[in-house]
Amino acid sequence: MKNVGVLGIGSYVPERVFTNFDFEKIMDTSDEWITEMTGIRERRYADDDTDTSDLAFYAAEEAMRNAGVTRDEIDLLLVATSSGDHRFPSVAAMLQERLELKHIAAMDQLAACTGFIYSMVTAQQFIQTGAASKVLVVGAEKLTKLTDFSDRSSAMLFGDGAAAVVMGEVAEGYGIKSFELGSNGSGGQHLYEDKENGYLRMNGREVFKFAVRQMGESSVNVVEKAGLQSDDVDRLIPHQANIRIMEAARKRMNLPVEKMSHTIDKYGNTSAASIGLSIHHDIKNGLIHDGDNLVLVGFGGGLTWGAICMTW
Ligand code: ACO
Repeated sequence: MKNVGVLGIGSYVPERVFTNFDFEKIMDTSDEWITEMTGIRERRYADDDTDTSDLAFYAAEEAMRNAGVTRDEIDLLLVATSSGDHRFPSVAAMLQERLELKHIAAMDQLAACTGFIYSMVTAQQFIQTGAASKVLVVGAEKLTKLTDFSDRSSAMLFGDGAAAVVMGEVAEGYGIKSFELGSNGSGGQHLYEDKENGYLRMNGREVFKFAVRQMGESSVNVVEKAGLQSDDVDRLIPHQANIRIMEAARKRMNLPVEKMSHTIDKYGNTSAASIGLSIHHDIKNGLIHDGDNLVLVGFGGGLTWGAICMTW
């Protein structure tokens, strides 16, 4: 079996910062409530002229540069998003053109906030079968398009951003060691796009309960499937949805707080971008090193969930 891992990573967040204090000006809320209940202090918002494919493009360019691959080498392009510019063409097809890639297969994948994990696993499968050798995986979201700024129970959670990885064959001992993917459509009613107005609707309590249980369970499962113990895990990269959900997963894995990636305070919930953004943030800050064992874990609308155990 080929070892499949990440050859290079990139990410992008818009410059505009929207703080909890900015929310205080537009709705009945407080910095204290948002920080305490979610762990979010600020998030980034793209301007009106910037759409999901623009965020995706900047992240993808950087990932390709950092991987040292040319545009001719990419032979599959997957974009995880719930906020594509259009229903079609896909963000992936738009990127194929803008990155001047060959006329390769390109598609969007929708598993909400679990999308990045779903796409990384899809890439791994293509590479292991030999159907592809270098796959560009992007998670990109302009969630402000789906945000109802009159709904104080959800508006403060979301931010815009993108992350990308180039995946390919890596040396023995590196790469993805195990994964888990799942879905349960009976929970779809708790987190969905409202057909009337295109806004995201959420039953926060139900999503919270599901996430707390599932994030811990999936993390433990992939570590076990990889033949590792929780002591062997160097870093947990949870989907950044709510600090209390992330903390529950960390505690279930018996990991100290310094081993968990934490970017929610700066970026909020960027859905399919959040896990890649956090990995890139940690690399830039010297918190992920060559050979580290990582657990990536996420959950999202669907309901969906997924986790990966990999050696970086
Ligand atoms: N500011 C101040 N008070 C607020 C706010 C706010 N922004 N929002 C709600 N409240 C109040 C409510 O009115 C309520 O007051 P009451 O007790 O007087 O009625 C109280 O706070 C509790 O409200 P709940 O909505 O029940 O609060 P909850 O404890 O559920 O926390 C939260 C809300 C933070 C949204 C939480 O449910 C949560 O994080 N859920 C998970 C969300 C999530 O991660 N979603 C993932 C979506 S990602 C994707 O797939 C795109």
